[in-house]
Amino acid sequence: MGRSMRRYHVTTFGCQMNAHDSERIKGMLESLGLGEAPGPETADVLVFNTCTIREKPDTRLAAYLGDAAARKRRHPETVIAVGGCYAEAQRERIFQLYPFVDVAFGPGSIPHLGEWISAGGLAVGRSRFGAHDHFAADLPMHRERRHQAWVQVSMGCNSICSYCIVPAVRGREQSRRPGEIVAEVTGLAAEGVREVTLLGQNVNSWGRDLQPALRTEFGELLRAVDAVEGIERIRFTSPHPKDFREPVIRAIAECDAVCEHVHLPLQSGSTRVLRRMRRTYSRERYLALVERLRSAIPDLALGTDVIVGFPGETEDDFAETLEVVEQVGFDSAFTFVYSPRRGTEAAAMPDQVADEVKGERLERLVDLVQRRAAERNQARVGRTEAVLVEGASRTDASLLRGRTRRNTTVVFAGSAAPGDLVDVVVESATSTTLRGREAALVAA
Ligand code: 5AD
Ligand code: SF4
Repeated sequence: MGRSMRRYHVTTFGCQMNAHDSERIKGMLESLGLGEAPGPETADVLVFNTCTIREKPDTRLAAYLGDAAARKRRHPETVIAVGGCYAEAQRERIFQLYPFVDVAFGPGSIPHLGEWISAGGLAVGRSRFGAHDHFAADLPMHRERRHQAWVQVSMGCNSICSYCIVPAVRGREQSRRPGEIVAEVTGLAAEGVREVTLLGQNVNSWGRDLQPALRTEFGELLRAVDAVEGIERIRFTSPHPKDFREPVIRAIAECDAVCEHVHLPLQSGSTRVLRRMRRTYSRERYLALVERLRSAIPDLALGTDVIVGFPGETEDDFAETLEVVEQVGFDSAFTFVYSPRRGTEAAAMPDQVADEVKGERLERLVDLVQRRAAERNQARVGRTEAVLVEGASRTDASLLRGRTRRNTTVVFAGSAAPGDLVDVVVESATSTTLRGREAALVAA
């Protein structure tokens, strides 16, 4: 076709960790001399960075791979690579399920991808998985956002939540060394990044596996990142309620840059269900933690994850979840229908809940979550919020979009540029968004 530069396209599924892994995959491909294609239709290398947390993404992936196979039939030189958690979970079967796949790699094998997709010659044959052994942190990075960045602090997870496939696919927890993390954040600040989000499957158990000489805890890491000049906002996701100790709470309260926003996965409001989930906290302990957080950190926004229809969940158990959601009043919540994952403890439990019951519970939960979030946002109307500008509104290019410290999206009239921190007067609210105008405009 006369085009000299080979082009890649990466399709990403799943969580922020995967989105961040995709930045590394892209950086790696670019260091091999490939350019980014605007869409999969024009790419020579098609990468799918997959998720397997629930069944739904698996189904969506099958449709995407069907399109990729069709492209390969028309252009046989196309390389198809499948990475991420689904690839890892299916490592024994992936080439049988999808014979047109050329390369498969798990989340721990991103550093090997370069060897597998060699520079110009794209025929690499069937490459298999590497070991679970690498921090991909030193790889070239293609950052998606100029003023915000993800920073990985650990990989893997030592928890054994009975519904979750992540420990099986991402391996045991390994903390990144504090000096390396701070050096990365310092470099990002020098590039103009103002907000960092520290990422780990369980961020607040960070540090426990480091050598004794380095042994530290997550609160210390927050303080070290807070000390980096130029970083105005620090977020982190996700903490586990069982590991939320006093030093972390104090660090959030005392560090100016650490935002008043904690994502605190609840999963269920029933102690009986929590026990079967192996979450190791009770309803009461979760509520007590919320109290401790709220009294230490004024104006704290709380987000959460909730699963409905876990095996054996009765109507009474579910009613307890609704009670906790009502009582806490989360600012945002991700709600999920329980999805059995092969090989997990819960998938083998005999008392699976019927799909209609799960669907009906999800609806009731979503109604409640939205009502409480709308009430919480309504209380911001009339206030002035500091907003980090991210760009133009997605639905109206004449308006700007950004986020408050409490992580609420704000759409507003103003003249600020991406990366600016501006005051916005809030004029109206829905369950997910605040609307307003720049304070400078209101004063004029
Ligand atoms: N089914 C439904 N939701 C799940 N999650 C994790 N595993 C499952 C599963 N098998 C949810 C949890 C977790 C979030 C990332 O995904 O709520 O916090
Ligand atoms: Fe992220 Fe978990 Fe999905 Fe992997 S399986 S991409 S860790 S949500």
